[in-house]
Amino acid sequence: MDNQNNTISMPRIGEKAPSFKAVTTQGEINFPEQYEGSWVILFSHPADFTPVCTSEFMTFATMEEKFEKANTKLVGLSVDGLYSHIAWLRTIKEKINYKGMKDVEVKFPLIEDITMEVATKYGMMMPGESNTKAVRAVFVIDPKGIIRTIIYYPLSLGRNFEELYRVVIALQTADAFSVATPADWQPGDDVIVPTAGSCGTAKERMENKKDMTCYDWFFCTKKLDKDTVLKTVLKK
Ligand code: BEZ
Repeated sequence: MDNQNNTISMPRIGEKAPSFKAVTTQGEINFPEQYEGSWVILFSHPADFTPVCTSEFMTFATMEEKFEKANTKLVGLSVDGLYSHIAWLRTIKEKINYKGMKDVEVKFPLIEDITMEVATKYGMMMPGESNTKAVRAVFVIDPKGIIRTIIYYPLSLGRNFEELYRVVIALQTADAFSVATPADWQPGDDVIVPTAGSCGTAKERMENKKDMTCYDWFFCTKKLDKDTVLKTVLKK
């Protein structure tokens, strides 16, 4: 908090994820240091024992193995206390049968943040939406602890977890192959090669396209097959 201006600073894409120690449903964590070498999705939800959040946790928990194969760990947070978290996760496992998901065990850590210290640090509190509940924030953090993607949703809107998976795979693909990914990209779709940085390269691209498709000198794509992408980003 910047007291003079009464503004809250928020971490930004490209910056180191702010460090914190926290109590979670899986014991204490030292974030992001103990996650070095893995991708992490740190996400907040407004409150335990609420319907949208319950649907989200069930969906995320059933996809945990899929994220694990993409070297990605999940860490949740709300401003509820530890015993509320434990009771809610037990209720989900024991009682909730939703869209074919039942007996769902949430194995990833859920941070207790009654003091709102972590939520404030990460800009998860948005008073225009709620003074007492975190919004649905998503931080995708790379193996070096750098924030690579930030997405926010309001209280009423459940997230699309297939999109979060797509984000992780697209970021890993961009890193591994030095490419960018176009709108709606999925593994197997063409990828974007870096824009020509000189007049000579721009000319060459337009005259001698090699293995590229150029829509103009600044917009060229190339093939990158699905198997190559998945073999690179997914653990065996
Ligand atoms: C929900 O998860 O259902 C929810 C939480 C806070 C406000 C509105 C909805």
